[in-house]
Amino acid sequence: MRKKILFVGSEAAPFAATGGLGDVLGSLPAAIADAAQDGVDVRVILPLYASVSDKYRAEMREECVMRIPLAWRSLYCGVKSLYRDGVKWYFIDNEDYFKRERLYGYYDDGERFAFFCTAVMETMQRLNIFPDYLHANDWQAALTVIYAKRRYAHIPACAAMKTVFTIHNIEYQGVYDPAILGDIFALSGDDALTVMQGGAINLMKGAIECCDLLTTVSRRYAEEIKTPEFAHGLDEVIRRNSGKLSGILNGIDYLAYDPKTDPAIPVRYSSRLPEKKAENKTAFFREMGFDGGDGKPLFAMITRLASHKGVDLVCEIADRLLERDVRFAVLGTGDPGYESFFRELEARHRDKVRSLILFDRALSRRMYAASDFFIMPSKSEPCGLSQMIASRYGSIPITRETGGLADSISDYGEEDGKLTGNGFTFRDYSGEKLLERIDAALRLYRDREKYLRYVTRVMRIDFSWSKSAKKYLELYGV
Ligand code: GLC
Repeated sequence: MRKKILFVGSEAAPFAATGGLGDVLGSLPAAIADAAQDGVDVRVILPLYASVSDKYRAEMREECVMRIPLAWRSLYCGVKSLYRDGVKWYFIDNEDYFKRERLYGYYDDGERFAFFCTAVMETMQRLNIFPDYLHANDWQAALTVIYAKRRYAHIPACAAMKTVFTIHNIEYQGVYDPAILGDIFALSGDDALTVMQGGAINLMKGAIECCDLLTTVSRRYAEEIKTPEFAHGLDEVIRRNSGKLSGILNGIDYLAYDPKTDPAIPVRYSSRLPEKKAENKTAFFREMGFDGGDGKPLFAMITRLASHKGVDLVCEIADRLLERDVRFAVLGTGDPGYESFFRELEARHRDKVRSLILFDRALSRRMYAASDFFIMPSKSEPCGLSQMIASRYGSIPITRETGGLADSISDYGEEDGKLTGNGFTFRDYSGEKLLERIDAALRLYRDREKYLRYVTRVMRIDFSWSKSAKKYLELYGV
């Protein structure tokens, strides 16, 4: 019998995505279907947001329309579907909740995702699509795991189903006032205790307690979240559930991110001809209005401007970095304090810095292709995908040894003339240490032949989904 896997999550590219979770749910299901060579049936359920384009809407067929219970209310729910890359995608339609400008950040997010999770449970029942594994991701999907083991456990097909819960970032837990436990989440008695943590409702905590298998997105992060330093208050819960915890590193979509074919970059290149990459830097310098001098090394940062991304370290050393006569470009939005820091940095160093305070996927690809080095000094990083994309585009990562960065990038070295590692890394959260590795990177850059050899090496590290998709199959017992 073909095993059935049903993913549940709040975003997936190309339908609706704001970050790493969207990239992963956009590419992992197809990678699993592919790795199993049709030996598994992979499906995904998402909310039907306003941002899902008309192109996809036109392909959708209607599966059912129903009214579903949200505590004491009965609400409209439409279910639509389409096929893409060997995966069946379901979309939960309710315009009050999902026809909005953004995906998240509303006063009623708790209610929106309680509705979504209830809709997932009702859809499985109505369409009779209970999988062998229900695979829920992050707090927005956490209630499906809790409901499967509690509120809906009286349904035999539901009780028979196994649940997997994946933590993409433990910082966002879905924390709510206990006053809405009954009215929104429809939990009471012992079921209510499962989701309580420190006097509040904590949906992620509930899913950690209830799931059969718990995973996170790198081995190192699986260890880190057992400690108070990383767990945002959930370390005791994680330790207690560590018997079912494992870490599986994410991959990236190797078809979508390929400098040999990427239509968004001016000049295409491969690891066999790394020197061709430099033509992208020339084009980028022209685009940014940097005068001449495209022999200068270009450092890039593409990130949400949030403190856990290690932006402080870059602010601390920015002036000293620029004394080294390099070019620096940052792309991203976020904390207004960081946004104005980088705007001012550019104003002070117009000849060397561009601060692109925006979100632009095509521009990000031109930057991956143009840059020589990619700075990512995160304070914590469950997995991180940008260091993998940078590697694929031959922009050598300079990273801090935490979470998935530690599991994917190792420090530069030389043994008997052979180059080792695939980046420059440092352990302590310190600007000095970052600058030290930047200096090591600059020494390599000055030795053109060696630098190009290292670029080739970095580009050839395999960050595709193939290895990790197999690990998920093992987890599901396929
Ligand atoms: C979150 C994490 C990031 C990870 C991504 C996908 O965005 O912060 O490190 O790569 O999820 O799992």
